[in-house]
Amino acid sequence: MTHPGTACLIDRYRHRLPVTTATPVIALGEGSTPLVQAPRLGAELGVDLWLKLEGANPTGSFKDRGMTMAISKAAEDRAEAVICASTGNTSASAAAYAAHAGLRCVVVIPGGKIALGKLAQAQIMGAVVCAIDGSFDDALRIVRELAETHPITLVNNLNPYRLEGQKTAAFEIVEELGVPDWVALPVGNGGNITAFWRGFNEAVTAGDASDRPRLLGCQADGSAAMVRGEDVLEPETVATAIRIGRPVRRVEAAAAARESEGGFVAVSDDEILRWYERIARLEGVFCEPSSATSVAGVARARAAGTIVEGERVVCVLTGHGLKDPGSASALGAEVITLPATRHAIEQIAFG
Ligand code: F0G
Repeated sequence: MTHPGTACLIDRYRHRLPVTTATPVIALGEGSTPLVQAPRLGAELGVDLWLKLEGANPTGSFKDRGMTMAISKAAEDRAEAVICASTGNTSASAAAYAAHAGLRCVVVIPGGKIALGKLAQAQIMGAVVCAIDGSFDDALRIVRELAETHPITLVNNLNPYRLEGQKTAAFEIVEELGVPDWVALPVGNGGNITAFWRGFNEAVTAGDASDRPRLLGCQADGSAAMVRGEDVLEPETVATAIRIGRPVRRVEAAAAARESEGGFVAVSDDEILRWYERIARLEGVFCEPSSATSVAGVARARAAGTIVEGERVVCVLTGHGLKDPGSASALGAEVITLPATRHAIEQIAFG
C-alpha cells in the first residue's frame, strides 16, 4: 500500500480495475467523496435529493478518479510525458498526477475560456500550458494528432483507463445509498455519464434495468450537442467546463441515457447560475457553475414531469466552487465597506 491511512480508489476497488501488482499506484487520496443529503434544496425541487461532492477530490474535481488510473498505467508503460486538451479540470488533474509521478505534462486549453483556479493549478504544478486561439474541440483534435505521431500518452477520456477510474463514483453511491431513482450529471464530452453507466452495471450485476438508476445528462443550451443530436460548431456557455460542441463519447453517452431509460436535458445559462446560487445558499455547498447544471437539469425534468415528486435523486457536483472564484463574487452577496468601529458594524448586523 503506497498511501497508508488513505484509501485511494485504486486500492479500494483494485478487484474491479485493470491494475496488477506491477502497476505503480500514483495516488493523491482520490475517491470516497461525501454523499450529502440536501433536504432544503430537495424540498424546493420536490425530490429526495442527495449531492455527490466530487469537488472533494484532491484537485477539486471528479477528473482525479480517472487520472489516478491513466497516470498509473502511463507510469507502468514507462511513459515519459502525457498530454491533454482541457476546459480546465482535466489539465489541473493531469498536471497534479504527472507531477506526483515525475512525468512531463503538456496541456492545451482554449485561451481566455478557463476558470482562474484551474489555470493556476496547472501552472503551479509545472505543466507546459499552451493556450490556443480556438475551442476545446480544436485543442482535442490537435492533441490527438500529436499523441499519434509522438511518444506522448494522451490522458483525455479517450484514454480507456480514465473511464475505468471514473466508474468508481457509481460504486460508492450504491454502497452508501443503494440504487437511487435518478442520477443527474453535467455532460460535456460524454465520458463521465458513460463511466457512471458502466459503474452501475458492474455494481448491480444481477437483475433487470430497474436495479439501476435512470441517468439524466444535463447540458447548457449553448453547447447541447447531445440534446440536439448534432455538433455545435461554436459552443458558448457560462459553464466553461462543458463548453464542448463535439462530444467524443457521444455514442456511449447516448447509449447510457437510452439503456438506463433516462435522457438528456438542456438548460439556459440563467438557470445554471440560479441553481449555482441556490445550492450554496440552501445547502452550504459550493460547486462550480458547470456542476450546477445537474441541479438545473433536475428542476427542468421536474417541471416536465419526467422526474416525479418524491423520487430519490443524486446530483453529481463534479467540480469545486473555488475553481472559479470570479463567478461566485459576481453573483454573491455584496461586500459592505465600513469604518472600523463597533457602531458601524452594529448598525449593519443588527439593523
Ligand atoms: N463537470 C465538470 C466540472 C467538468 O470539468 C467536465 C468536463 C464535465 C462536467 C463533463 O464531463 O466531458 O465527461 O461529459 N471537463 C473536461 C475538462 C472536458 O477538460 O476538464 P464529460
